[in-house]
Amino acid sequence: MAKHTLFYAVVLPGLEQLAAAELEALSAHDIEIEHGGVSFSGTTQLMYRVNLRSRVITRVLMRLRSFRNMTLEGLGFEIDKIAWHLFLNESSKVNVSVSTKHSRLNHSEDIADYVSLILKKAMPKIGTSNSALFEQSIHIRIENNRGTISLDTSGERLDRRGYRLESGKAPMRETLAAAMISWSGWQPEQTLLVPMCGSGTLAIEAGLVAKQQAPNLNHDFACLHWHNFKAKDFEKVVERCMGMLKNEAPKTANIFASDINAGGVSITQNNAQRADVTAWMDTTVLDVHNLVKPDSPTGGVVLLNPPYAQRIGETASTVSLWSDLGQIMRQQFLSDPAWKVVVICPEQSFEKAMACKVSRRLKVTHGGESVYLLELASIN
Ligand SMILES: C[S@@+](CC[C@H](N)C(=O)[O-])C[C@H]1O[C@@H](n2cnc3c(N)ncnc32)[C@H](O)[C@@H]1O
Repeated sequence: MAKHTLFYAVVLPGLEQLAAAELEALSAHDIEIEHGGVSFSGTTQLMYRVNLRSRVITRVLMRLRSFRNMTLEGLGFEIDKIAWHLFLNESSKVNVSVSTKHSRLNHSEDIADYVSLILKKAMPKIGTSNSALFEQSIHIRIENNRGTISLDTSGERLDRRGYRLESGKAPMRETLAAAMISWSGWQPEQTLLVPMCGSGTLAIEAGLVAKQQAPNLNHDFACLHWHNFKAKDFEKVVERCMGMLKNEAPKTANIFASDINAGGVSITQNNAQRADVTAWMDTTVLDVHNLVKPDSPTGGVVLLNPPYAQRIGETASTVSLWSDLGQIMRQQFLSDPAWKVVVICPEQSFEKAMACKVSRRLKVTHGGESVYLLELASIN
C-alpha cells in the first residue's frame, strides 16, 4: 500500500464543512475540521487530485513534522530531521511563513530567520540556479505550545484559476463562488440565474461544475517543482480528470448570466471564453428589475451578489436596490417551491432591506471581513 502522509487544506473560515465534503468525495482519509482548515491524510496521488479538483480549498499543505519543544534549538532540531533534498533544489526560492499563538516560542520573524539559516546550512545550493526560481513556502504554525512544520504543495492560491484576467469593481474569489454554488445545492441539470454577474465568477464556476472540469488543470503547483515530483502519478490524475470532462455542451445553455452593465457582460464573456465554458452559459445585458423567471421543468437556483455601498452617498440607492431585489425574489421565485434563492450579503442592513425570511445562513470570513450566504425562505 502506498504511504499515507498528513495534509492540511487551508480554506476561508466558514468553508470547512464544504471542503471536508469535497475531500471525502475525493477519497481522503482521517478528515478533521479545524478553524480555517481541514486536516486529512492520503497518498501523493490524493494530494495531486485535491489540488487539481478541489473547488473550495485555497491551498494544500503537506505536514512534515509536529513538535512540542518550544525553543529555537528544539525547532532547529526538527528542521534538521526533514529530508529537504526530496523537495527543494537549486531552483527553489524558499519563503518561511510563521504563525504563533498562545505559545512560548512567539517571535515570528526570529523563527523565520532561524529556520532559513538552518536550511541554508543544510542545503547551501538552494536558490542558486541561474534560471528562474520557483518559490517554495514552508509554513510553521505554533499554537498552545504545539507546532507543525509544513510545506505548501499548491504554489499560487488555488482560487486564482487563471481565467479571470479582467474583472469589475468587486470580483468574488473563485473558491467563494464555488462554495456558494455548492452550498445552494444547484445541480447542473437545473437552471441557474446569476442576474448581477459582474465579471462572471459565479456563472463560470457553475460552468466548470456542469462541464465536470477540474478547476485547477492549468495551475503551476509548487509540488511540480519538487525534486521528488512523481510525473507519472500526476499524469494519471490528470488523465482521470480529462476522462471525466463533458466535452459536449448542452443543446441549450441553462446557466444565465446577466448584468445591467454592458462592460461587465463583455468581461464575463471574455473570462468564460478563457475558462472554455461559453457553450454552457448564456449572457445578456439586463436590469434585474426586468428579470423574468424562465420556464424550467427541473426548477432552478438564483444566485445574487448585489453591489454594496462603497462610497459615501451610494448608501440610499444601494439599500433601495436590495429592497427591490427582495420584492422581485418574493414575487417570482420564493413562491415557487422548485426555485431557491441564495444571496451573498455583507451586512445586516442589506438583509433587512430585502425583507425576506432566511432559512439558512453561512458566515464566511473573506479578506478579514465577514460575509453571509443567505438562503431565502420560500413563501406559500
Ligand atoms: C458585487 S458586483 C458582482 C461581482 C461578481 N460576482 C464578480 O465576481 O465579478 C455587483 C454587480 O451588480 C451589478 N448591478 C448593479 N445594479 C444592477 C441592476 N439593477 N441590474 C443588474 N445588475 C446590476 C453591477 O453592475 C455589478 O456588476
